[in-house]
Amino acid sequence: MKVLVLNGSPKGEYSVTLQYAKYLEKISARDHLDNGFDFDYINVGKNVYSYSNFDKLQAVLDKIAEADMLIFAYPVYTFLAPSQLHKFFEILDSNGVKLTDKYVVQLTTSKRFYDVTAHQAVKDVVQHLDGKYVDGYSADMDDLLNDDLRAHFKNWWDYVIYRVNNDVYEKSALAETTHNTYLPTAEPVTKRDGKKIIVVTDNTDNNSLTGMITDFVNLCPYDVEVIDLKSQGPKSGCRGCLKCAQTGVCVIKDGFSDLLNDKINKADAVVMAFETVMHTISSTFKAYYDRQFVNGHRPVTAGQPTAYLVSGNYDGESNLKTYVEAKSAVGGNLNCGVVSDQNATVKDIENMVAKLTYALGNKVTPYKNFYEVGGMRIFRDMIWIMRGIMKLDYDYYKKHDMLDFPQKKRGTMIAMKLVGKLMRSKAINKKMPNMMEEGMLMPYKKILD
Ligand SMILES: Cc1cc2nc3c(=O)[nH]c(=O)nc-3n(C[C@H](O)[C@H](O)[C@H](O)COP(=O)(O)O)c2cc1C
Repeated sequence: MKVLVLNGSPKGEYSVTLQYAKYLEKISARDHLDNGFDFDYINVGKNVYSYSNFDKLQAVLDKIAEADMLIFAYPVYTFLAPSQLHKFFEILDSNGVKLTDKYVVQLTTSKRFYDVTAHQAVKDVVQHLDGKYVDGYSADMDDLLNDDLRAHFKNWWDYVIYRVNNDVYEKSALAETTHNTYLPTAEPVTKRDGKKIIVVTDNTDNNSLTGMITDFVNLCPYDVEVIDLKSQGPKSGCRGCLKCAQTGVCVIKDGFSDLLNDKINKADAVVMAFETVMHTISSTFKAYYDRQFVNGHRPVTAGQPTAYLVSGNYDGESNLKTYVEAKSAVGGNLNCGVVSDQNATVKDIENMVAKLTYALGNKVTPYKNFYEVGGMRIFRDMIWIMRGIMKLDYDYYKKHDMLDFPQKKRGTMIAMKLVGKLMRSKAINKKMPNMMEEGMLMPYKKILD
């Protein structure tokens, strides 16, 4: 069986995820001799920009054509795969490559912060490309160093091999994206001073998307600047070098960090306008998000409201919806709505503008939900451990009281211990059967009386 590992990490040979794939090669040679495994590797993430050269791309396509199984190995980057891997998917799709009759699995390393959205997005792409999808594995960065977790990883690989040997895969693809054309009709309103709104877009060739942007610009009572990522955005994706974790400065000198920190992050609100690509965002938009890693895990735009104009079948894209909701929640950005050309009317854009204007005038921020609280706990724990490397994050979390570990709440812990003791006492329970309920409501009574 020919297994081709397509490594989406921009770090190439230095990729942590690649070591996991190499471990699979090692245990396959040892434990699955019958299958005659033959592993090969291509660093598609590191080399993706060279695939504009036809011969280089053809060499990759030839290897894909020969393979029986593909493993997309990549690090999770900002809720999805790195922009470089998204670009590679787009290259495959635009070259008409189909993965029909190939088993395709994915393997990630990360801190498991939104590994789920990354896995679902890659699954959607694989199914779009007609591959025989077999469920992947999400490893924490150091799992391979632990005996039990290595055994768990091997257990998954055995399951993959069982599924491949028995042709057990998942192929049902999502409905293909339909793009309706939105025609702008709104009359421009008179502009007020005082707020600066930015629209960031990745596709000014999509008339429907630009139609929605035009109506948004006309209806918005404040000055709006449109930033076209293709001409003004990052020239390449994040390299994953982590140098910015110490310095706050990106090693890629293409002017993007200045645009981000001096203009976009200083705007009063930022609206994202994009076209869905294979059920997710484009590699252009992904590079825009990945390169924001220059600000580490610091929610530097918290309080800045946002909204989305989407060209595509948004209502049918459940993973994209989760991504959009989770991303705004973790960023602390009130989501003032998603308008999609699937069924958009000018009234939808008016509503979006109304919500955004109110949020700006009244400083409305999102409530903390599972996406935010869960995500920030992962960051908190990681930054605590990795503070040597993530110094800027650590200083920020310390300054903003974000290292809110439960063990710091000694008073509450002691009180709970006492309550627990009382609850276990039969005599007290008999005398005061509602003691627990009443006790729990006591602090609220103080507020309500
Ligand atoms: C730009 C960037 C974004 C990242 N985003 C995430 C993320 O969203 N979730 C997560 O759990 N880890 C995230 N990470 C951590 C990487 O997934 C992790 O370090 C991974 O093991 C790196 O693998 P590699 O060495 O194969 O590139 C991010 C790292 C970088 C550099």
